[in-house]
Amino acid sequence: MSEKDYIPYGKQSIDETDIQAVLDVLHSDYLTTGPKIEEFEQLVADYTGARYAVAVSNGTAALHIACLAAGIGPGDEVITTPITFAASANCVLYCGAVPVFADIDARTYNIDPQEIRKKITSRTKAILPVHLAGQPCDLDEIHRIAKEHHLIVIEDGAHALGAEYKGKKIGSLSDMTTFSFHPVKPITTGEGGMVMTNDETLYRKLLLLRSHGITRKEEQFFQNDGPWYYEQQLLGYNYRITDIQCALGISQLKKLDVFLARRRTLAANYQQAFADRTDLVTPYQMEGTQSGWHLYILKLLQNDRKEIFIKLREKGIGVNVHYIPVYLHPYYRTHGYANVCCEKAETLYKTMLSLPLYPSLSDEQQEKVIECVKDL
Ligand SMILES: Cc1ncc(COP(=O)(O)O)c(C=O)c1O
Repeated sequence: MSEKDYIPYGKQSIDETDIQAVLDVLHSDYLTTGPKIEEFEQLVADYTGARYAVAVSNGTAALHIACLAAGIGPGDEVITTPITFAASANCVLYCGAVPVFADIDARTYNIDPQEIRKKITSRTKAILPVHLAGQPCDLDEIHRIAKEHHLIVIEDGAHALGAEYKGKKIGSLSDMTTFSFHPVKPITTGEGGMVMTNDETLYRKLLLLRSHGITRKEEQFFQNDGPWYYEQQLLGYNYRITDIQCALGISQLKKLDVFLARRRTLAANYQQAFADRTDLVTPYQMEGTQSGWHLYILKLLQNDRKEIFIKLREKGIGVNVHYIPVYLHPYYRTHGYANVCCEKAETLYKTMLSLPLYPSLSDEQQEKVIECVKDL
């Protein structure tokens, strides 16, 4: 099998307009800290309905500064899901706080609000739900719990740009929401991320945290030594994104709805193809939500996931597993999580398989995937 016949589980869709947008920036005066940053931020804010946006170097950086802006620090606990990429919990560790894993809802594979309730202590500071595969979490219930216990909600929307919860786009519904623009994500900037918020105080903190804690806005200075002056007001990072990346993001955003429509069609094809199989479970969609279909996750009920995974890979089908429960990684096991067990998450982990799903996946390629899965 040649490399060009390989069907990955996800990949970017880049066309000539994207390439031209990047070239235009390369010919301009600003490669970074230029006008494309705010333009991209404003467009994503408009798209999602959020008031403010802060673009950063990747989705992990977005999670990190969101946690810092929320004031999460040593002694605090943050409740999140085990079925996610490590970044959703690592960002809590970066702040010196403790990620606490609440089990999932066996139908949606997202964090179960009832399990969140069981994990709340006097140290809980925030809830960090992840919209796995682009399927929105039960946000009403999560917000109810947050209100009862005075907790901050940071949504990890890495999979969910364009997804909808009760008619509203993910991005404007909680204290903060983060996105990732990694190449397999709904749109890409190569590497990139963003934090969305409706809160001006959080927005100002996020801007500082993105760039060393430094402001150049005179009206925000504590003192002013002269026209050269800039001021470091807290300890931030260099998590800046470039104009080159934001130009790509702006160009990609124009196509997001077309990408989403294609993802939804492909997902519907899979749903239909596997609907009558008793040995497979297809993804459940919560009423009132529109998934962004970042991933298509099948559950294989006959305990044959490993064998099927290997055989599909041999046939050139880039299946994957999203995700290994975070606390099962050796790092977590040896850092206080040796006895953690979320039963439903672990049961799901043993049976789950992500099939290829991305806008440029052709009908023929999808047919091949479906046939191979059915054959096996
Ligand atoms: C759920 C989730 N959160 C966070 C991230 C981190 O995003 P990035 O790779 O842009 O740092 C990812 C990326 O894979 C992810 O899938």
